[in-house]
Amino acid sequence: MIEISRLQKSYQGKAILKGIDLQVGRGEVVVVIGPSGSGKTTLLRCINGLEPFSSGTIQIGSLELTPGTFKEAAVTKVLQSVRRKVGMVFQQFQLFPHLTALENIILAPLKVLRMERAQAEARARTLLQRINLAGKEHCYPGTLSGGEQQRVAIARALAMEPDALLLDEPTSSLDPELVGEVLSVISDLASQKYTMMIVTHQIGFARSCASRVLFLDDGEIIEQGSPLEVLEAPQSERAKNFLRHFGQSARLTG
Ligand SMILES: Nc1ncnc2c1ncn2[C@@H]1O[C@H](COP(=O)(O)OP(=O)(O)OP(=O)(O)O)[C@@H](O)[C@H]1O
Ligand SMILES: [Mg+2]
Repeated sequence: MIEISRLQKSYQGKAILKGIDLQVGRGEVVVVIGPSGSGKTTLLRCINGLEPFSSGTIQIGSLELTPGTFKEAAVTKVLQSVRRKVGMVFQQFQLFPHLTALENIILAPLKVLRMERAQAEARARTLLQRINLAGKEHCYPGTLSGGEQQRVAIARALAMEPDALLLDEPTSSLDPELVGEVLSVISDLASQKYTMMIVTHQIGFARSCASRVLFLDDGEIIEQGSPLEVLEAPQSERAKNFLRHFGQSARLTG
């Protein structure tokens, strides 16, 4: 589904991703953890074609991104296809404030997929039901809670029926009492075997939903494995130190 090979990315000469190799299979839920500045957001943005990179390849189904992709004249076409296959959900929701929940959800299906309005609206209503927001279709983002806005953002991404969803700290700008409602929508997707890569510090959620956990530090994948392996029995000092902050596993405190 997603195959990344020797991905390197620098900002102003500073290496941010230092040769990432990663494969994500259909139906996998990969949770990415790691300290601030380790390159988690950059990795997701590269996969979504939002960031050019210096070397390596990112394969999404039959599409391939290389450093050259961003220089070609046809670049927007390839990147549009990538973003159609891979949806992205951001920490700050990034809904269009002047559009209602329903309009936010149908915009890309109308413009990009050229779907009939009636069909797009019917699907948007189904999605709103699925995220427990039936009845809120005509609300503007400013009148919705953070948790509601983030759920609309997830529905907006799903409306394009992407093959995979990338979520970058989807709950970290929410008040604690709103985190659960967003995680529950993501858990539902996970139980339906929706392919996802999720950057999150919700360790409990990672433990219950991830098929694999990656620990990224300083632009490298330091550890990866089952939640049990990485969260409960990390091998590297760096992962142990990082997880200690979350008060994980008694084994780590010894
Ligand atoms: N547009 C940019 N220009 C220059 N440097 C950048 C840019 N975006 C990110 N960086 C740098 O790249 C590194 C990785 O950033 P990234 O946002 O991917 O980290 P992160 O793991 O997502 O961190 P956080 O947990 O704080 O969100 C950081 O050192 C950051 O300062
Ligand atoms: Mg980030």
